[in-house]
Amino acid sequence: MSGSAGRCLFSRQDLEGRIRELGARLSHDYAGLNPVLVGVLKGVFIFMADLVRALEFPVEVDFVRLCSYGAGTETSGEVHITKDVEVPLRDRHVLIVEDIVDTGLTLAFLREHLASHRPRSLKICCLIDKRERREVEVPLDYVGFPVAQGFLVGYGLDCGEQQRTLPEIYVLEKD
Ligand code: IMP
Repeated sequence: MSGSAGRCLFSRQDLEGRIRELGARLSHDYAGLNPVLVGVLKGVFIFMADLVRALEFPVEVDFVRLCSYGAGTETSGEVHITKDVEVPLRDRHVLIVEDIVDTGLTLAFLREHLASHRPRSLKICCLIDKRERREVEVPLDYVGFPVAQGFLVGYGLDCGEQQRTLPEIYVLEKD
């Protein structure tokens, strides 16, 4: 599966504005709670870098890497952990940070996995919610943008490792 960046869906200005709002909400909700933010690699690295700098206090960060997609745009349905958390999560307030939720399979798996560490709270923040594609329900506590359809690239999102470093989010135009 390959393609090129087509229509720009979210500009730098859209992204900056929404991340500022999410940062303000999280700063309010997590004030004094010393949360751990667990980012889902690789796609989240740009969003997470901007999000933590929109918070009013320093937070601890950690990352997991999960594998379910191949080199294309369809999930295989099976999720594996290829890099686990390193920070002890027991009794901590944990916020999963994800770039995009599609079928929900990845997050449902990760949520269950992290819940087994017995955190004090476990919530999810995602930049993009492709709600209409959902196959498994996962509670999304903080959502940047709901999106109806399309495969998106840029701002960390890739298609077969291409277009990840574009500064804005585009709809992929398939070749
Ligand atoms: P899910 O398990 O189907 O919810 O898939 C979640 C993962 O699929 C995300 O973390 C992304 O890595 C990838 N993904 C889903 N939709 C897109 C997209 O539109 N662009 C880029 N990656 C996507």
